[in-house]
Amino acid sequence: MHTVTTIAEVRARVRLWREAGQRTVFVPTMGNLHAGHLSLIEAARAHGDHFIASIFVNPMQFGPNEDFAHYPRTPQRDEQMLRDAGCDLMFMPDVAEIYPHGSQRATRVEVPGLSSILCGEFRPGHFEGVTTVVAKLFHIVQPDAAVFGEKDFQQLTIIRRMVTELCMPIEIVAAPTVRDADGLALSSRNQYLSAEERAQAPIIYRTLQAASRRLSAGEEDYTGIERCGIDTLERAGLRPDYFAVRCAQDLSAPEPARHLVVLTAARLGKARLIDNLQVRR
Ligand code: PAJ
Repeated sequence: MHTVTTIAEVRARVRLWREAGQRTVFVPTMGNLHAGHLSLIEAARAHGDHFIASIFVNPMQFGPNEDFAHYPRTPQRDEQMLRDAGCDLMFMPDVAEIYPHGSQRATRVEVPGLSSILCGEFRPGHFEGVTTVVAKLFHIVQPDAAVFGEKDFQQLTIIRRMVTELCMPIEIVAAPTVRDADGLALSSRNQYLSAEERAQAPIIYRTLQAASRRLSAGEEDYTGIERCGIDTLERAGLRPDYFAVRCAQDLSAPEPARHLVVLTAARLGKARLIDNLQVRR
């Protein structure tokens, strides 16, 4: 595996593969890798010949009172994990490489509407930061396909919309959420939990499962299901931002005949945890 820090080095490497007629698949991350990230590299295998991962903690997607400075950074361990996973290229730029004029004044990409609901309501500017950096990374890497986790379901939906609307010739591949044995979705932010909070956290997945079961059984009282989700999380000592039933395709208001997803974000101690579950019928 090659590790590079500049845009020029990424381009030089990918050009060779493209000239050889080989497909490249890209997995963008913020590092501090875990089995959830590695599952994306695994999913990438079915979609190309060469695999690129980026590790970049993107300042633009963090709010002023969020955890940018404290976000866990483990570059050496990440590099070893990517090498072991069979990744060909790791791109680890510094902030000046991605934002030469600073992240505040950078040119931005925004997907309106989808970016201001659910998590967007509680993290203003967050998704604009995500779409801006992902658009830049796509221009740098120019992959044939890119893999994103369903763990960040709203992010995945917004990226799909951006790619469609900006006519980017990139296939977006979704990979299922990887969980611990007790159901908690793997996340770098789980490290912020105390032992006691960690023991409470699986209530998030159990509450999503309960809502999903009611929807699978044909219940259509969406507001009642949402209220019940909020109550359950609050009774367990969490502080939910939202618990919402939506259409999985575009996060619009739920309708009986459509494919649905239940999404939640809840604060527990210092962590803000998100999760979701699609409703199978
Ligand atoms: P990060 O949180 O590092 O996640 C990188 C990718 O890993 C995302 O596509 C995310 O959905 C996926 N992922 C995280 N936890 C997962 C889990 N438990 N199971 C499956 N996939 C999981 O998401 C970001 O970084 C950033 O916003 C980024 C897209 C890199 C832009 O900065």
